[in-house]
Amino acid sequence: MVLFELKPWTFYEEGSTRFWVHYGLVIFGCVLAAITACVQCCKPAPYGRHEMENGGWGPKIPQRLSHIISDALPGVVMFLLVFFLYGSVRFYQNYVFLVLFLLHYIHRGIIHPLVMRYRSPMVYIGICIGGFLPNCIFHFINADFISSATYAAHYYYDPRFILGIILYIIGFVINRWADWRLRSLRNTKGVVDGGTNYNIPYGGLFELVSCPNYFGELVEWTGWCLATWSLAGLVWLLFCAATFVPGSRHNHLWYKQQFELYPPSRKALIPFLF
Ligand SMILES: NC(=O)c1ccc[n+]([C@@H]2O[C@H](COP(=O)([O-])OP(=O)(O)OC[C@H]3O[C@@H](n4cnc5c(N)ncnc54)[C@H](OP(=O)(O)O)[C@@H]3O)[C@@H](O)[C@H]2O)c1
Repeated sequence: MVLFELKPWTFYEEGSTRFWVHYGLVIFGCVLAAITACVQCCKPAPYGRHEMENGGWGPKIPQRLSHIISDALPGVVMFLLVFFLYGSVRFYQNYVFLVLFLLHYIHRGIIHPLVMRYRSPMVYIGICIGGFLPNCIFHFINADFISSATYAAHYYYDPRFILGIILYIIGFVINRWADWRLRSLRNTKGVVDGGTNYNIPYGGLFELVSCPNYFGELVEWTGWCLATWSLAGLVWLLFCAATFVPGSRHNHLWYKQQFELYPPSRKALIPFLF
């Protein structure tokens, strides 16, 4: 058994149309990630706390519906269609990846929008479209890869697979916990002022960073990239970083401006570093 194979899977035949569709979209995804990083560095996307400073991305639609369209449609419906109708092989490893991805997107695309306590019931349609279109591209290539790559039988014991899955689960738990903690800040019966205000979050990873939900999701997709060992996973991780790095910086500065007593040692996204 080879200990470390550069390609622990076989994928589409090199030069075939499906090969070029896949890698063409991977290259396009890299360009999209670079553009996103530049745009988001200049101005935060106008939703949530930043809507007040930076409004105007078209007419408004209900916020819960917007998140369901932008996340559940590509992340659950399209992902399943590509996996079962477009993908070409299905072994146990392929199903493990399918379950992991759905675990994230059933929560993010359906449960999260239904349970969160948003300040505003409406959001600009541009936010919905700006999430939906990239998600379609990135989720297509990821579904295509994990349903078409034939992994070596011993890949279950490969450190990339094991470490990747552990990271994915740790990131998932951090992301869910942090979003749940933010939701509890709007508990109208809670200890803080509730309603639609913003409060300083405390406890757990909030003691170290302003956006542990973004940090958790970044850890999740790092695990995904490692476990799937794919360029599709890597380009999706880059796109998420292109959103979370500038986004967390904007949120962090916003907290500091809003709250005089904001903990000075807290970082934006990565504990002790950034
Ligand atoms: N993969 C991607 O590219 C991507 C991109 C963006 C987001 N996401 C994920 O989507 C989820 C939500 O993202 P987000 O940007 O909406 O996160 P967020 O700005 O942290 O807000 C999350 C929720 O908590 C509320 N909230 C935030 N800070 C609060 C505070 N200090 N006090 C009280 N309530 C507060 C927000 O209310 P308001 O809505 O009223 O502000 C919102 O309902 C996260 O899990 C994130 O990882 C993924």
